[in-house]
Formats: sequence, structure tokens, C-alpha cells
Amino acid sequence: MTSERWTEVDAYLSEALVPSDLQLETVRAASREAGLPEIDVSPMQGKFLHLLAVIQGARRILEIGTLGGYSTIWLAKALPQGGRIVTLEASPKHAAVATANIARAGCDRIIRVIVGRALETLPQLAQTEPEPFDFIFIDANKEDTAAYFDWALKLSRPGTLIVVDNVVRKGALVEASNPDPAVQGMRRFIERIANEPRVIASGLQTVGAKGYDGFVLARVK
Ligand code: SAH
Ligand code: DHB
Ligand code: MG
Repeated sequence: MTSERWTEVDAYLSEALVPSDLQLETVRAASREAGLPEIDVSPMQGKFLHLLAVIQGARRILEIGTLGGYSTIWLAKALPQGGRIVTLEASPKHAAVATANIARAGCDRIIRVIVGRALETLPQLAQTEPEPFDFIFIDANKEDTAAYFDWALKLSRPGTLIVVDNVVRKGALVEASNPDPAVQGMRRFIERIANEPRVIASGLQTVGAKGYDGFVLARVK
């Protein structure tokens, strides 16, 4: 099985199941134009997140790691009237591109972008937005994933869904002595969640346009 075939199948499924959406395509194009790294979720993954948020009936969503706002806007499209998203981004440049993308998509009244390193902005967020989130997407720097998971638990309620992206890292997750800090970060996260009795968690490997990776899904008990 080749990665070309994964990409081909992803394209086939995307063409069938993800109708072209001018707003979302414009977001991706603007992010590339601005020179942002091409690490947004794929269209199919975006729709999967959107679907999870719909299943969850999420009204309040927290995202850690905005980039150009592509996943953010997929999630925003899942919200009912009165729903809101807070998204955290360390890079002022990425946040500026996201803010412009969000305004162009007409989502600026429902999405708040907070600029700064998430471990610094999360304590303020906990103060200013004490109401728990229904859905939390963790997709920032991988080294701090275990700490983001701790924050996600603090900002959750029973029933909150937590999704963690990029856990598998082309399979490097199983390499205990891999020097990549992202791999070590994900191993610490897995160890952390394995010992957390307050969630029901599962992990799934994925292939597709973004290669071989995977995510963890957890529901707060
Ligand atoms: N969720 C986006 C992709 C996010 S890429 C999508 O799928 O469309 C990861 C983002 O996390 C990058 O924009 C990076 O600048 C940001 N990031 C890195 N370190 C961070 C930190 N300490 N706090 C918040 N964001 C961070
Ligand atoms: C990277 C980050 C992501 O969020 C992603 O989905 C893929 C790759 C990265 O930092 O390499
Ligand atoms: Mg990601």
C-alpha cells in the first residue's frame, strides 16, 4: 500500500463527501499566499471535526493552535445560533492571517482569537471564561500536549469531547528513544491520558492527504 494510494483515496472521498466551499477554499489559499506552513487539517479531517462537533451538539469550542483558522472555521460551521469558539495562537503572524480569514468568512462575531503562547493565555482564559467548553481541539506545539490536556480537563464538564491531533507522527510514537521533541511530547501525553481515570479515551491511526498520523479522542466522564 503506497502513500500515493492513500492520497488518491482521500481525494476520491473528499470529492464525493466534501462539497467545495468557497469560504474554506479561500481560507486555505490565503494561508498559503501568506506563507503559513501547510499543516492545516485536510478538508476531510476538517469535515470530520465539524461532524464530531455536530454529534456533540457543541455550543462552546476551544481550539489550541489556530494557524490560519482553517480548522477553526470548519468547527464554527458546526455551531448552533449563539455558539462560540475561542482559539489560541502563539504566532502574531498566524493570528493576523487567521483573523483576516475569519472576518472574510463572516465568523468574526463567533470566533475569538487569543494571541500568545497557550500555556500563558490559558490561565487568563480560565479567569475570563469560566463556563466550560463542550469540545476542545488540541493542535498546537506537540511538546506541550500533555499540559494542554490538563488544561482541557480544567476547562471541561462531564461529557466534554477532547480531540488531540498528530499523535502518531508517521509511527514514530512507538520509538521510546526518538529524539524528536514532538514524539516525546506525544509519548508523555499518552502516558498522561493512560493514567487519567476521568476520561474514556481511544486512539486511531489515520492515512490520507497528510500521510500517516492519528488522533486521540477522549470524553470526560
Ligand atoms: N489547527 C490548525 C493547525 C494548527 S498548526 C488547522 O488545522 O487549521 C499549529 C499552530 O500552533 C501553529 O500556528 C503554531 O504557530 C501554533 N503554536 C505553536 N506553539 C504554540 C503555543 N505555545 N501556543 C499556541 N499556539 C502555538
Ligand atoms: C505539524 C503540525 C500539525 O498540527 C499537523 O497537523 C501536521 C504537522 C507539524 O508541526 O509538523
Ligand atoms: Mg494538526
